[in-house]
Parts: sequence; C-alpha cells; structure tokens
Amino acid sequence: MKWQAAVFLALLGGSVTPALAAPWKKLRPKMAIDAMLSFYNQTDGRWSTEAPWWITGNALQATLDYMAKTGSREYIPQAVNTFTKQSAPLPWWPSGGGDFRADSTDDTGWWSLASVRMFDLTGDQQYLTYAKEDEAYMYSFWSNDTCQGGIIWDIPSRSYKNAISNELYLKLAASLHNRIPGDTFYLSRAKQSWTWFKNSGMINGDNLINDGLSEASNGICSNNGGQTWTYNQGVILGGLAELYKATRDRSLLETARRIADAVTTSAFLSPNGILTEPCEADDSCGSDAPAFKGIFVRNLDELQDVLPGNPYRKYLDVQTTSAYNLDRNSSTGNLYGLKWAGPFDEIEIARQTSAVSLLVAAL
Ligand SMILES: *[C@@H]1O[C@H](CO)[C@@H](O)[C@H](O)[C@H]1NC(C)=O
Ligand SMILES: *[C@@H]1O[C@H](CO)[C@@H](O)[C@H](O)[C@H]1NC(C)=O
Ligand SMILES: *[C@@H]1O[C@H](CO)[C@@H](O)[C@H](O)[C@H]1NC(C)=O
Repeated sequence: MKWQAAVFLALLGGSVTPALAAPWKKLRPKMAIDAMLSFYNQTDGRWSTEAPWWITGNALQATLDYMAKTGSREYIPQAVNTFTKQSAPLPWWPSGGGDFRADSTDDTGWWSLASVRMFDLTGDQQYLTYAKEDEAYMYSFWSNDTCQGGIIWDIPSRSYKNAISNELYLKLAASLHNRIPGDTFYLSRAKQSWTWFKNSGMINGDNLINDGLSEASNGICSNNGGQTWTYNQGVILGGLAELYKATRDRSLLETARRIADAVTTSAFLSPNGILTEPCEADDSCGSDAPAFKGIFVRNLDELQDVLPGNPYRKYLDVQTTSAYNLDRNSSTGNLYGLKWAGPFDEIEIARQTSAVSLLVAAL
C-alpha cells in the first residue's frame, strides 16, 4: 500500500490533477499518428506499401492502442479499410487463404493481436474470429519433435524455433482466453506455451531473451546466443501480463519484472537511460528493426497496467522527452527518426510506428 500513499502525497503537492497537468501528452501521440497517416495508402490499406507487410500490422496496433487508451474512435475508418483489404489472400502466400495467415508465424502474430485490439474497440466478433483462426494456424506449426515443443518461425522451410513467434503465440492464446467467457482451451494452450518457453533456454543468465534456439542433430536445443532485440524483451511482457490476468499467478509478474528491469537498467539496451536497438550503433537496422523499440515500450506499458505504482512511468517519460526533443524532423515536425537519443536521421514508417507506440505508452 506504500505506493498509494506516495501517489496521494504527489497529488496533494500539485495544484492540478496529472491529466490536466500535461495536455500535450495526449496531443503528441495524436500528432504523430496524423503524421504517420502520410504513409497510409487508401487503396491497399497499408502504411507504406513498400515496407514489410507486418509493419502495417504494427502501425495498425499502435493506432488502435491510442484509441483504446483515449476513448477516441477517430481512426476506425482507416482500421476497417486495412482489415478489409489485407484479410484477402496474400499475393506472396496465397495458400494461406487470407485472414492474415502468412508465410511466417510472427507475421500472423502481429496481425492477430491487432485483431484482438480491434475486437476490444468495436465488439465486432469478426475480429475475434480472425484472432481464433490465426491462433489455430500458428499452433499448427507447433511440433514436439525438436526442442521438446514450440512453434517454428519460417513456414516454407519449416525451420527455426525463435523467441518472437513463441512470445506472440503466448500473448495471443492468453488474450483469447481473457476475452472468451468460460474458456479453458486457450488458457491451456497459453500455459503450454509459457511452460515450454521458460524452459527453452532462450532467457539467458542476464534475464534477457536471445533471438532463438539452435538445434542439434538429436533434436536437443539450446540458446543460439543471437541478438537480444528489444522486441524480444517486449512481447513476453505483454504475454505474461495477459497470462497473469487469466491466472493471478504472481510468479509470472516476478519473471516479467526481471526481464523488464534487465532492459531498463542495461548499459547495452538502455545506454544513458535511453532505449537503443543494438543495430543503431552501426546503422544496420534495415526495414524491420526500427519498429522494435516501440513494441518493447507498448508491452512494458501493458505490464505496468497490472502492477501497482506505475514502476515504469519515469522510464517511459524519459524516453518520450528524449525522442521529442532530439529525434524529430525539425523543432515543429511530428515525424521521428531511429535514435530516441538523437540525432534525427530520416523519415520512414517503421521509425514512426516506434515513436507512436512510445507516445501512446507514456499516456
Ligand atoms: C498503393 O497501393 C496500390 C495497391 O497495392 C499500389 O498499386 C500503389 O502503388 C500504392 N501507392 C503507393 C504510393 O505506394
Ligand atoms: C506436445 O507436448 C505437449 C506437452 O508439452 C502436449 O500437451 C501436446 O499435446 C504435445 N503435442 C503433440 C502434437 O504431441
Ligand atoms: C517533416 O517531414 C515531412 C515529410 O518530409 C515534411 O512534409 C514536413 O514538412 C517536415 N516537417 C518539418 C517541420 O520540417
């Protein structure tokens, strides 16, 4: 109860409520979302047609999260257009048959979680149906023959058990359970997924999650020592928060906090306190990784929602202030670059999705 006393004292000390104290906090994400719409293609519903497909699923998630947090319904028309157009069979993977069944399990995962949020906003069962179909599709790539379980990442080559696909799957299964009264099916799948993940070896001795597993010829797997991308530290936090809501098992929160704290205190991932993607150092981030930091902070905020005392508020505020002051296209622009520590580099959709998710997380 100590935190409640602290909040109470903080309120007494200020002359206005926190919501009134910072109207810009609500304005900045809206301005960044409006700027992000400069990438939006009404014809196919993609935020930047030439960017990777999953980036649109992620831009959609960031936009939906803004509406979920503020009560705004301003961008529902774009969201409906995107779901309508992009639920068609994918030109590069027609055998998936559409409804976001892609050629890699993580691509499906991003879209399925956006569908869950769209269901939260609209109550329209169609979006829950997409998420259920996507869960079934992802689970069809679960196999016990190597690594004692887990979902494979790349579908055409049927290979690579990695962190991101399995984190997305855990979060999806737990999210479905939390939205389907009386469900036991998705809860047992979420538990199966977490039991496997925590024993997989992907969480290393520093409480950070490496990219995936390497498989020996006898089917035994071990941590491959791959990069500790920020999104791999992120999606697990949102997944554990959903599983905690389902089970009230506090050990899930302890694990999540260890991972989150490992990032926020890491000299590697948070040098000088600012979240930094490992690829920023040599400008090798490509077209995917600039979106990763936004995914981390989105999920950090979801974890914070089930913890007392907003333990990550200060960290999120520090990121926001830094990105706003040092990483925009001029002092009046609303498009953000790669490095939240600055300087601004270039305008591009994955960078902007990260900024939007950051500004929304800090709301
Ligand atoms: C918008 O989408 C359509 C359909 O995919 C495509 O033909 C067109 O080139 C896109 N426009 C831009 C500006 O990318
Ligand atoms: C894989 O193993 C899990 C237990 O870890 C079990 O629940 C599941 O049914 C198994 N799946 C298959 C296809 O054998
Ligand atoms: C930011 O970049 C966009 C796209 O290039 C441009 O339209 C806008 O004018 C820029 N804003 C400022 C304030 O420079």
